[in-house]
Amino acid sequence: MKNIAIAFAGRRVAFGLVLAVAGALSACSYTNAYDYEPPPPCNLPTTVSYQNHVLPILVQNCYSCHSAQNYQALSSKTFNMEDFTQVKYYATPANGINNVSYLVGNIRHDPGFVPMPNNGGKLSDCQIATIKAWVDAGAPSN
Ligand code: HEC
Repeated sequence: MKNIAIAFAGRRVAFGLVLAVAGALSACSYTNAYDYEPPPPCNLPTTVSYQNHVLPILVQNCYSCHSAQNYQALSSKTFNMEDFTQVKYYATPANGINNVSYLVGNIRHDPGFVPMPNNGGKLSDCQIATIKAWVDAGAPSN
């Protein structure tokens, strides 16, 4: 009788261990580098607005170098993004390379373009698609 009780307790301990190990493994799988995280869906608005959709991306990722105050520190002193005329110029395909605007070619890191942001990193696919859609619509001041 006593032996049975011990054997039973032993099985419970073993079962507990299995649960603990399984728990630890599943907890680990969250930080597992091989886990695939699908990118968040990119729902482009029907009409991409400069003010509401494009500008926030530029402010967050480009103004550190291209704001009215900061662009003057750039070696070539080009491109003050707070001047819409300049944004429009760089967004115009005819002013770019092979009819691809500097704005789009630079953020896509196309060959022959200076990759932007200039301090490494790249905009997300959705941010690039947003800016590209606005450029394709003729870069309106909307
Ligand atoms: C760390 C600083 C820095 C950041 C951040 C940055 N840029 Fe630039 N950008 C530069 C410099 C420097 C130049 C001048 C490059 C040259 O003439 O070689 C430049 C030039 C440009 C030009 C002019 C065309 C050209 O190729 O010379 C465009 C367009 C441009 N940047 C777009 C962007 C966009 C869009 C972002 C944000 C997504 C961005 N940049 C972020 C530093 C920066």
